[in-house]
Amino acid sequence: MATLTENRIREILQTVKFPGYSRDIVNFGLVKSISITGKNDVTVVLQVATRDANVPAQIERDATAALRQCDGIGQVKVQIAIETPTTSPAPTAPGIPGVKKIIAVASGKGGVGKSTVAVNLAATLHQLGQSVGLMDADIYGPSVPKMLGVIDKPTVTDEKLDPVEKFGLKMMSMALLIEGDAPIIWRGPMIMKAIQQFSHAVNWGALDVLVIDLPPGTGDAQLSLVQTIALDGGVIVTTPQDVALEVARRGMQMFEKVNVKILGIIENMSYYVCPHCRQRDDVFGHGGGGTEATKRGVPLLGEIPLFTEIREYGDKGLPIVLASPESEPAQAFLRCAETVLQLIQKS
Ligand SMILES: Nc1ncnc2c1ncn2[C@@H]1O[C@H](COP(=O)(O)OP(=O)(O)OP(=O)(O)O)[C@@H](O)[C@H]1O
Ligand SMILES: [Mg+2]
Repeated sequence: MATLTENRIREILQTVKFPGYSRDIVNFGLVKSISITGKNDVTVVLQVATRDANVPAQIERDATAALRQCDGIGQVKVQIAIETPTTSPAPTAPGIPGVKKIIAVASGKGGVGKSTVAVNLAATLHQLGQSVGLMDADIYGPSVPKMLGVIDKPTVTDEKLDPVEKFGLKMMSMALLIEGDAPIIWRGPMIMKAIQQFSHAVNWGALDVLVIDLPPGTGDAQLSLVQTIALDGGVIVTTPQDVALEVARRGMQMFEKVNVKILGIIENMSYYVCPHCRQRDDVFGHGGGGTEATKRGVPLLGEIPLFTEIREYGDKGLPIVLASPESEPAQAFLRCAETVLQLIQKS
């Protein structure tokens, strides 16, 4: 009798689609445990967050049928634990009138270059002919205005905030509304209220794409935001180290929880390019983002090098893709933006 392995079972479960989606149940992170007895009896525990009773019933039927077709398998038991979501999932969230596509840039932790990626991605999408808005939703440490060199205060029309325009981008940030350092009031429920109001209180006008720089992490504030607006996709920024990848995984789970499509992973600070000799060095062990992307079945959108000018231009308020469009990082951002555009136009 051939021995069944957990991997083999996982492969079979990958043929089972989440009802109504093109993604499979393994990809959605539903598999909680797989146990196999000596007689090849298999018990699979799946966890599904849904309010619709048909969804777990269909997954159970499909998974059982798929497993039963496997040669040499004994008794098959598929158990489903149903979690009722506390708030409605993203597809029911309202869109923003006039805005065609909305994407959010997230990371499991701070300092991985999320804002740098959001700003350069937005600027590159604009270079590609899109009308682009950039919303800095990072109320803990808004940095987009600094990276774009914006100090103007937004005006108000019809009780909504008018975005500030820079380099052809429309931009709004909490930093433009807060005088000095005022983060102390943004705690707990206040944060969620603020984010919810903020995200729908801007006169974006007609936009092809709105890019949202989320606060780092995967807590309630982030979850609240991804549920407040109907997102067309999420981009995860990570560095190549294992520890950062673990947090990237949490970022992906956050999007999966609310059924937001993960467009892919961007590995930032992927490798080092010496400013003097342009030699390349894999300081953090390049390639982790790619391995993780393959493992999770999501695209690797690109690898952005650690490049001193990225920070220098960021500090000057001029995104590198505008300052030095031929540079290696600008070309890497271009590849990311082109892929993102293809993916959102398809969806
Ligand atoms: N690829 C890169 N090469 C060089 N410097 C970079 C790169 N990416 C980001 N930086 C620099 O690293 C610092 C942190 O980047 P950034 O603010 O974009 O990260 P973040 O993830 O948004 O951080 P936070 O969690 O604080 O919001 C900045 O000074 C930025 O200029
Ligand atoms: Mg940031």
